[in-house]
Amino acid sequence: MSTIDEIKSRIDIVDLVSEAGVKLRHAGKNYTGFCPFHENKHTPAFVVWPETGTWRCFGACNEGGDIFKFVMKKEGIDFKEALQKLAARAGVEVKEYQRETPQQKEAYDHLRKLLEDAVIFYRSHLLANKEILAYLREKRGLTDATIETFGLGYAPTGWDNALKHFTARGYSEQDLVEAGLLTVREGESTQVDTYTGIQTEHAGRNTPTRVYDRFRNRIMIPIRDEQGRMAGFGARIVDPNDIPKFLNSPETPVFSKGRLLYGLDRARRAIRAADQAVIVEGYLDVIALHQAGYENVVSPMGTALTEDQLRLLKRFTRRIVLALDPDLAGQKAVLRGLEAARSAMDKEGELAFDARGLLRNESRLQADLRVAAMPDDLDPDEIVARDKEEWARLITNAKPIVTHVMETLAAGQNLNDPKVKNQIAAQVLPLIEDLPNPLERDTYRQALARMLRVNESALTGAQAQGPRVRRTREKVRERGQEAGKVVVAVSSSKKVEEYVIGVLFQKPELLYRLDRLLQEYGLTPLDAQDFAYTDHKLLFGLIRESVEQYQTEHHKFVAQAVPESLAARAAELAREAVEAEKRDEKLLEELLRGVIKLRRQAAGENLSQLRFLQEEAHQAGDLRASSYMELALRHTRLLRELDAAYRKMTQKRLE
Ligand code: UTP
Ligand code: MN
Repeated sequence: MSTIDEIKSRIDIVDLVSEAGVKLRHAGKNYTGFCPFHENKHTPAFVVWPETGTWRCFGACNEGGDIFKFVMKKEGIDFKEALQKLAARAGVEVKEYQRETPQQKEAYDHLRKLLEDAVIFYRSHLLANKEILAYLREKRGLTDATIETFGLGYAPTGWDNALKHFTARGYSEQDLVEAGLLTVREGESTQVDTYTGIQTEHAGRNTPTRVYDRFRNRIMIPIRDEQGRMAGFGARIVDPNDIPKFLNSPETPVFSKGRLLYGLDRARRAIRAADQAVIVEGYLDVIALHQAGYENVVSPMGTALTEDQLRLLKRFTRRIVLALDPDLAGQKAVLRGLEAARSAMDKEGELAFDARGLLRNESRLQADLRVAAMPDDLDPDEIVARDKEEWARLITNAKPIVTHVMETLAAGQNLNDPKVKNQIAAQVLPLIEDLPNPLERDTYRQALARMLRVNESALTGAQAQGPRVRRTREKVRERGQEAGKVVVAVSSSKKVEEYVIGVLFQKPELLYRLDRLLQEYGLTPLDAQDFAYTDHKLLFGLIRESVEQYQTEHHKFVAQAVPESLAARAAELAREAVEAEKRDEKLLEELLRGVIKLRRQAAGENLSQLRFLQEEAHQAGDLRASSYMELALRHTRLLRELDAAYRKMTQKRLE
């Protein structure tokens, strides 16, 4: 989740607006009050929608937005200041977005080139080694095509093969150390400050070798980032007596174990296609599963799953299956891993608050984590080796986390012992309470009660009170529940906004064509007011500016003009929007559909709100009721135009 979303999820807009001195009154599913931005004692034309965290003035301002826009307008500050202020209030840390400097980029590219050359180097040693090849082919059942695809290699025995090979080709020892291919000998370290590039030598005994090959007599597994760029290596022993069994590259500027997932560069397409990702524990399991045709599989690199890794995966799907080791250590790792899993996912879930049940079919919006336990003490690669279909069955039968945790904790325990019951309940209840959907919570609480053979009310009584932030979210969640379907509509419109901005950010030149298209459909050009979220409004402003100037290429202009505080957000949106190489025509069609959808939704919501305000004013004998009527008529007309455009668009598609 982006920092902006995180802040939004933690701040209740009703609290925020109330604290700013606006008296809000519960009106239907929303709140109304007098607009703090313009003088008017008679008409409460200011409306707050708690479930989307947005507000709008239907009076003289005729303007709206989210919490950021509200604070910016109320205090006359810019977005960056509003971001800092609200981040502090929410207790969220705003990370300064580090733009890669040209020098850094050059240094990283140099490292990656060296690693790419290392893949070739290790591969040539593998092809020259009959024994290792035979091991991979016969013992591990890998085909030559698989060995080639995954770029497997072999690091020969000896202390300086890589050292000699690469220094002869113009790489410095420092390059090799930084890429993690060499290890610096103890007591005589060469320390390189990665930021300054300054090298400090510690004179020691006069030994000829200060550095030596890190990988010796090991099978080399290249690890790439999700874009396929070389990052580092995993290296498996050949001699069973060597330790450790796997040796990874050290942390380097381009290799960060907690942020990469092995195999993602090759799995991402399949993950998208299947709308499901499977996480296993071993490199060789990933390789074997891909070879067996299950390409949506990735693995961490010997560490517990991190939030960063889940975020990374979430860019491709929300449906994630953890395929876990059957042994106890593995299971413990699961429970540990699951904690990370929940905290990354649930925050997102909380944005969808009560809508989770309704959103079930919209899996893309929802984190769905399941666990598949491996039978008979087998690794995934052994399972596909004995029966390909069995893997598919195991994944299909993966269990929701809570069920899995309950069953794991209960396995082999004496459930008649009250102490055991207590322990299990204490571990499972927090998970259940974290679920955003009350129905789901009930279901699991019942299941837990059944399993522990206790009365359900005993479990409910045991719940502890959460911290303040939680309570706020709970409140938002409950308010959202009253709104029912609207929540779904709104969160999908957020996605649409994100998509439109993301595409235009990468291809601002499409804005002209989009505007022309909108005109053809009898609609007005795209405007910042079409977006409800302040970050989107601001980014759209830049996109509009970029096409109205001629000095710089459009996309370069936006990239340069984007303020620091929004750079990370913009990059994220752009990355998610233009994944596949789509033709411009296709993108335009999607943009048009998106804009019409946004406008219909907004017009519909405004209209029903206006009718409500009108009705209220009428009952209170307020003469201003008629002015609402005018506004309502305008929105009705707009809605009709949008419907006409929508029909025209669908007809065109059918032709
Ligand atoms: P396993 O020992 O299960 O290895 O470790 P594996 O991948 O199944 O390999 P084979 O089948 O025995 O050849 C699982 C993963 O844990 C990490 C590696 O990422 C490995 O793939 N690991 C394991 C380490 O990082 N270091 C170790 O010493 C052992
Ligand atoms: Mn294995």
